[in-house]
Amino acid sequence: MSEDWDEHAENWDRDEHVRTYADQAFASLKKYVNVCDKSWKSKRVLDFGCGTGLLTEKLSAHVKEVVAVDTSKKMIAALERKQLGNVIVVNADIGDPSVRHGAAWLSGFDLITASSVCSFLPDYEFTVGVLSGALSSDGYIVQWDWETSNDDGFGLTKGRIESALEGANLKRIRVEQAFSIQTDEQNMPVLIAIGSSG
Ligand SMILES: C[S@@+](CC[C@H](N)C(=O)[O-])C[C@H]1O[C@@H](n2cnc3c(N)ncnc32)[C@H](O)[C@@H]1O
Repeated sequence: MSEDWDEHAENWDRDEHVRTYADQAFASLKKYVNVCDKSWKSKRVLDFGCGTGLLTEKLSAHVKEVVAVDTSKKMIAALERKQLGNVIVVNADIGDPSVRHGAAWLSGFDLITASSVCSFLPDYEFTVGVLSGALSSDGYIVQWDWETSNDDGFGLTKGRIESALEGANLKRIRVEQAFSIQTDEQNMPVLIAIGSSG
């Protein structure tokens, strides 16, 4: 699926479903990775595909630093306007080898989050491999995506996520339904997937 995310930036935070998704994502994260524990005050997080930073902001309250990355200039501009003290904002495509080359900032993360991003990537499996390589020795990747029942649809299947995380050499993989979002038309299930480097 190809989207021009810049077009969504201005009204992103006004969308009730988008805000609910971020609230529920953060609530479900805490069941697996307790970022609210004081031990996380010294840890670094990468929020990949951060958008306007709805999840970034929640994470930043509990950790040392969040690096927030997105390819959309306008999403990133909206996040910059929030002026979050311990958030480093990066407008870049980590799929681009010239961005990754010598990028010291793209390493050593204790947690990498990707909230409603992976199903929109041109090469999800490759990107998970890059993200996996940016983890610390005992770090976690946590992603949330709309669940679909077949690989041709909107969203991701449990099977595809499991294979991608396995292919990226992640361990202790879990993929399960985290919550659902009720729209006027339908109830849409959201998967949470967790893998760790250690
Ligand atoms: C559905 S939005 C989710 C935004 C945010 N995570 C949230 O929950 O509000 C998808 C985001 O992924 C970003 N995105 C898409 N492809 C990307 C890529 N290759 N690298 C980084 N971000 C990307 C888009 O620009 C957009 O901000």
